[in-house]
Amino acid sequence: MLDYRRRNPVRLHFPMHKAGGFFAESLKPLFGAELLAMDLPSMPGYTDNLFHSKGALKEAQALAADLFGAGHSRFLVNGSSIGNLAAIMAAAGPGDAILTPRNLHRSAASALTLCGARPVYLPTRRHPAHDALSPGVAAVRTAFDENPDIAALLLTRPNYYGLAGDVREVIAFCHARGCPVIVDEAHGAHLRFLPQTPITPALDLGADVVVQSWHKTVGALTGAAVLHVGRASLIDIDAIQLALNTLQSTSPSNLLLVSIDETRRMLWRDGAPAFGAAVEQAEALRARLRRLDGVSARLLDPALAAEGYTADPLRLVINCDGLKVSGFACAEFLNRACDIAWEMCDARNIVFIVGPQDTGADYDALVEALARLVVEAPALRPDPRFESTRREAPLPDLAMLPRNAAFARKRRVPLEQAAGGICAEMVMAYPPGNPLLTPGEAVSAEILEHARNLRDGGAQIMALDPSLETLLVVDGSTTDLSGRTQPPLHRFP
Ligand SMILES: Cc1ncc(COP(=O)(O)O)c(C=O)c1O
Repeated sequence: MLDYRRRNPVRLHFPMHKAGGFFAESLKPLFGAELLAMDLPSMPGYTDNLFHSKGALKEAQALAADLFGAGHSRFLVNGSSIGNLAAIMAAAGPGDAILTPRNLHRSAASALTLCGARPVYLPTRRHPAHDALSPGVAAVRTAFDENPDIAALLLTRPNYYGLAGDVREVIAFCHARGCPVIVDEAHGAHLRFLPQTPITPALDLGADVVVQSWHKTVGALTGAAVLHVGRASLIDIDAIQLALNTLQSTSPSNLLLVSIDETRRMLWRDGAPAFGAAVEQAEALRARLRRLDGVSARLLDPALAAEGYTADPLRLVINCDGLKVSGFACAEFLNRACDIAWEMCDARNIVFIVGPQDTGADYDALVEALARLVVEAPALRPDPRFESTRREAPLPDLAMLPRNAAFARKRRVPLEQAAGGICAEMVMAYPPGNPLLTPGEAVSAEILEHARNLRDGGAQIMALDPSLETLLVVDGSTTDLSGRTQPPLHRFP
């Protein structure tokens, strides 16, 4: 890219803005001439091609693999979302089953729909304050006994609250059966650089494919992510590359790609000292916060620690139970009254991302804001509806394969008429973003009530109709799990 700038050729190629010449005037000063000049596509003779990398990108991906202990690494410009899609599509196809706990990201649930596989959900152990927990080997064994067609296990680890279980045994169990393990490590690209690595990175536990959002935790531009294939992976790099060739844009932003490579260099050079210092700062911050009555800045629930769970020290989870006000209300107060921008909040917690770039002044502001919150919390209106977001979502029965439901004839019906039908879209609630209904699942009155409660309780619903007044359902004939056509399960008025 720098070479292109030095040579400064006559620009008769995409993008039409041509180094920011023909570009929105309002954005020019914000983006800057340098950045716009570097917004280059894949061009023979100048820049490498992500799909057939032979030069800089090939070398950059090899260096990333080396740093992370992978056999191969692939740069992604559509976030971990595309990595999850590619990994699952490389591992499973029609007729296969994918085993996963229900705390999968929507991209992974979408992959199940696209690849035609059948999801098998492991019973979730959901901690009330820390979301779903990693499964134990006993549950995985039972699932294998009941489903001989399992083609891959998908784990989401660490979770949004920075919590991870030791899944070494689970991975070894799957490998003994020739079954690959994909780990959605979207929240864990930095783990390798933490002092004493409190959470062992999935590649080091033997995972076959690991997907990381580098924009989330290691400083790359938003959208930049990396997929790693383990050195002894049961999933072939060619299968991954084929899936990425199918799914990724043919115009990947070189700005994102170069941000991945330079982030890799920064991590290689400074990752350990930078994250080491950040952890020290975060621990000092926690110590200050522990002195505040009503909020808890505990790193990890002692009961979970006893079970072998560990926590990411750079995920500051503030529990608001002691204030008797919901996490939503507390977070809103911090936002509105104190200009503190947090990452995520739920009924009980506020999650902050802390890291190497934070300053003492940032933490002083947070401590001051939380001290104000403690004083002012009684005036914040307690909202009993938030209770509902703490409950475990009922797991719907699978009535049709997700892909068959997604491609079936569909109809949008008022929510109160949807019970008894088969869902034809994905419905999720954020936080923490796990699916409530996916295509092919039977819609019950119970799950609709749960979704409604979440909506009314302040969760953000992600669905075709986020107000949840309507739901997209399969209309007319259905298919069973073997793909045989069946009469309609339900007739809508
Ligand atoms: C667990 C998990 N997996 C995958 C993703 C998708 O990552 P990205 O936004 O990089 O596509 C997210 C995003 O929030 C996530 O939380």
